[in-house]
Amino acid sequence: MSRLSRAAVHRPGTRDLDLTSVEVADPAPGTVLVRMGASGVCGSDRHVLDGDWTLPSPTVMGHEGAGTVEAVGEGVTDVAVGDSVILSWFYPCRRCTACVSGRSYVCTGSRSEECLLPDGSTPLSLDGEKAFPYLSVGSMSEYAVVPEAGAIRIPREVPFDVASLIGCSVATGFGAVVNDAGVEAGTSAVVVGTGGVGLSIIMALQLVGANPIIAVDLNEEKLVAAKAFGATHTLTPSDGLADEVHRLTGGGAAYAFEAIGRVSTIESLPSLIAAGGKAVIVGLPPEDSPISIDALALAEGGKSLIGSNYGSTVPGRDFPRLAQLFLAGRLPVDQLISHRITLNEVNEAFEAMRRGERARSVIVF
Ligand SMILES: NC(=O)c1ccc[n+]([C@@H]2O[C@H](COP(=O)([O-])OP(=O)(O)OC[C@H]3O[C@@H](n4cnc5c(N)ncnc54)[C@H](O)[C@@H]3O)[C@@H](O)[C@H]2O)c1
Ligand SMILES: [Zn+2]
Ligand SMILES: [Zn+2]
Repeated sequence: MSRLSRAAVHRPGTRDLDLTSVEVADPAPGTVLVRMGASGVCGSDRHVLDGDWTLPSPTVMGHEGAGTVEAVGEGVTDVAVGDSVILSWFYPCRRCTACVSGRSYVCTGSRSEECLLPDGSTPLSLDGEKAFPYLSVGSMSEYAVVPEAGAIRIPREVPFDVASLIGCSVATGFGAVVNDAGVEAGTSAVVVGTGGVGLSIIMALQLVGANPIIAVDLNEEKLVAAKAFGATHTLTPSDGLADEVHRLTGGGAAYAFEAIGRVSTIESLPSLIAAGGKAVIVGLPPEDSPISIDALALAEGGKSLIGSNYGSTVPGRDFPRLAQLFLAGRLPVDQLISHRITLNEVNEAFEAMRRGERARSVIVF
């Protein structure tokens, strides 16, 4: 028996989400029905609404979610009814070479990006028409059906609003610092763009003992938050930004992270790091956004420029770790939540995000 679920639906050509009811099928073999507890409002959802990326549509938005397992399909053994789970927006196939060698973040068998379940189907329909859960999650909905490999059990003590953020911004930020950049204690870092993802990067830099930690954002409120999460210096973007970073770090940062998704700020990253430094692209620009860099300066400086997708997260390993760090008081994810909202207030949350406001809005169901 399928069920109706109130959801925020995107159709191309309009920035406003339609709040309507979608039909959610029973969980097929290998999938799980989740009653959503909370869904974060992430910059990646905003890219979709603003037409930056092409997706199958209509799309039930949201990919930063957590909730309770309501029912399981045949053969599901990892989770059981009543478990608290964080949803992963990249479910590994568990069979390809990358997956079996422990590098599921570069899995070649996942259909997450097509917004499909492993068998190529979708669990959602809208007025008799197929609908697609964004990144096979679709967390801006009371119910979702996701693959077993995309629902990771966590301790029940972790509140859903916190758990939802572990599902994208926190895992992405932590993973960019720990898994991808490999930041060591006592080394310097600069973070350009301190929204939900950039602040999560700062939280992780603080945890691993980076110093100094320089936060750069246009919005004063974000810089105040950055300080609270451990930034030692805050700057607003200007022509003299690279000089200022070089002055504060004694010759350039060891690590630089871009967490906005703008071509020009990505292009400026190599100028912020010292010789031998590492620049990490975390922000995602619109499709077809080539960048231009000074290749000679990059090579002669022995600098690296790398991309970071989901912080190379292995959900089954990293979500429980992040949940434990939160419970131990070492990762203040709750402080990232600036606004708790209802599903009806989601369009306002995106408008605020476009103005550069709010650390993170979280929809609570
Ligand atoms: N790589 C990944 O796996 C991954 C995962 C999640 C999100 N993202 C991407 O990360 C980016 C940020 O996401 P978010 O949820 O934090 O968004 P957000 O809107 O909350 O944060 C963006 C921040 O950038 C600031 N900003 C905008 N223009 C600026 C400029 N010129 N200089 C300095 N600061 C500026 C804004 O004030 C805001 O604080 C998006 O592109 C999103 O798609 C990537
Ligand atoms: Zn996200
Ligand atoms: Zn795989």
